[in-house]
Amino acid sequence: MIFHDLTAVKKMEAEYEKNRRLAFVGEMAAVLAHEIRNPLASISGSIQVLRKDLQLNAADERLMSIILRGKDQIENFMKDFLLLARPSPGTKETIELRGLVNDVVEAIRYVSDWHEGIRVELTGDDARISANRAEMRQLIWNLLMNAVQSISEEGAVSVCLARTSDPDGVTLRVSDTGAGMRKDVLQRVFEPFYTTRERGTGLGLAIVRRIVENHGGRVRLESEPGRGTSVAVWLSSRPEKKPVTADAASEVGG
Ligand SMILES: Nc1ncnc2c1ncn2[C@@H]1O[C@H](COP(=O)(O)OP(=O)(O)O)[C@@H](O)[C@H]1O
Ligand SMILES: [Mg+2]
Repeated sequence: MIFHDLTAVKKMEAEYEKNRRLAFVGEMAAVLAHEIRNPLASISGSIQVLRKDLQLNAADERLMSIILRGKDQIENFMKDFLLLARPSPGTKETIELRGLVNDVVEAIRYVSDWHEGIRVELTGDDARISANRAEMRQLIWNLLMNAVQSISEEGAVSVCLARTSDPDGVTLRVSDTGAGMRKDVLQRVFEPFYTTRERGTGLGLAIVRRIVENHGGRVRLESEPGRGTSVAVWLSSRPEKKPVTADAASEVGG
């Protein structure tokens, strides 16, 4: 009995420590956002104008794309940081998911992890949901990036949209035939800053989880080493839907 109580106290302490760390991350994100985002926006705008106006030779064109990739990388990192810090979702609108997925698929071909051995396909229904556009974009981006990064030589990434039997639900599933994950990795992937990649931030799936929670949805991750990974996100097409909870390590919801 006493032993049991101590365990509960330890658990509470750990939970408190985790929340304190998250609050700190939030404050840091706000400062970083301010200090980095504004100059980044001016740099990014100027580069785009220059790119249009300059006549670049092949070598300079390569340098220009390195700059643009670097800029995109910083921009995406900042977006992740900001989303992790923001407690509530931004304004919601009706989003046609297919179009949004297509946009992200187009953009993902310019990241440095992209290579020609990767095939991407999008299947399924036209699906409409009420959600925050920037957050949805970031969710799809993070899932696609992870899928792309898991494929070292040849492989496929598939995105499947489906309306669920619950008439208000939509499932977005991103699967890859990449490296997959061991069980011990799988259990930790949603933790902020948990990463196994050399240049990873460990924010991608923490953000996915946060966004899904913000929208009262659920996310479920399945993976097998050497075979690949599949992440299914369930979202409500109605904005006022109450959050649903889940407790399995590989399944979270808000
Ligand atoms: N599709 C995937 N295939 C294999 N491993 C994955 C996949 N998605 C996530 N992971 C694992 O989960 C970890 C955390 O992912 P994430 O939160 O996106 O952070 P990061 O990508 O910066 O490492 C990754 O380092 C990787 O080990
Ligand atoms: Mg990632």
